[in-house]
Amino acid sequence: MVLGVLGSGSGSNMQAILDAIDAGTLDARIGIVLSDQPGAFILTRARQCGIETGVIDCRGFRTKFPDEAQAEIAARLQAAKVELVCLAGFMRLVKRPLLDAFPDRILNIHPALLPAFPGLESWKQALAAGVAETGCTVHFVDAGMDTGPIILQERVPVLPGDTPESLHARIQVAEHRLYPAAITRVQMHLQGT
Ligand code: GAR
Repeated sequence: MVLGVLGSGSGSNMQAILDAIDAGTLDARIGIVLSDQPGAFILTRARQCGIETGVIDCRGFRTKFPDEAQAEIAARLQAAKVELVCLAGFMRLVKRPLLDAFPDRILNIHPALLPAFPGLESWKQALAAGVAETGCTVHFVDAGMDTGPIILQERVPVLPGDTPESLHARIQVAEHRLYPAAITRVQMHLQGT
C-alpha cells in the first residue's frame, strides 16, 4: 500500500512508520511526504531516505489550508499513486476537496484520548485538567477538528512532576507504536482480510 504523509514538524511519527516498514511489521511504502513548513525536519528526514517531498503553498496564510492548496495536494498525492494519507503532526484543518479526493482514506494521529482534549498541545490541556491518564488516538479524518471515527487508542499515565515536555515525550513513545498498528488495521480492512 502506498502512503502519503503530511506533516508540519519533526516527523518522528513518519520515522516510526518508516521503521515499521523496514522491520517488516508494516507492509507499505511511503510514496511522498508533503509539508506546509519548508524548513520542517520531516522533509529532511524524508529526503535522506530518498522519498519524494514537496512543500504545500498555503498562500501566506498562517493557519488556514486554502481550497486551492488542498486541490493541488490532492493532485500531487494522486500522481504519487497514494492509497492512504497519513497526517503526522500536520497542523492545518483538512477540508474538501482533499477529503473528497480520499474518502475514508485520511488518518490522523492525535496526542490525547479523543474525544478528550482536541485541538492544539493536548498534553498541556491534560496537565492543566489534572487528569491521571491521557494517551494518543489514531482516527479517520472528517471535516471536524479531531472528530472522525477512532481506529486505535493507547493510554499513557500522567506522572507526578510531569512537565509538558516529559508528558509529550511519553505520549510520543506510544504514538510511535500506535500509528503503524492503526495503518495495518485500516489496510486489512481495505483489503478485506
Ligand atoms: C505528535 O505528537 C502528534 O500527535 C501531534 O503533533 C506531534 C507531531 O510530532 N499532532 C497534533 O497535535 C495534531 N493535532 P512528529 O512531527 O514528531 O510526528
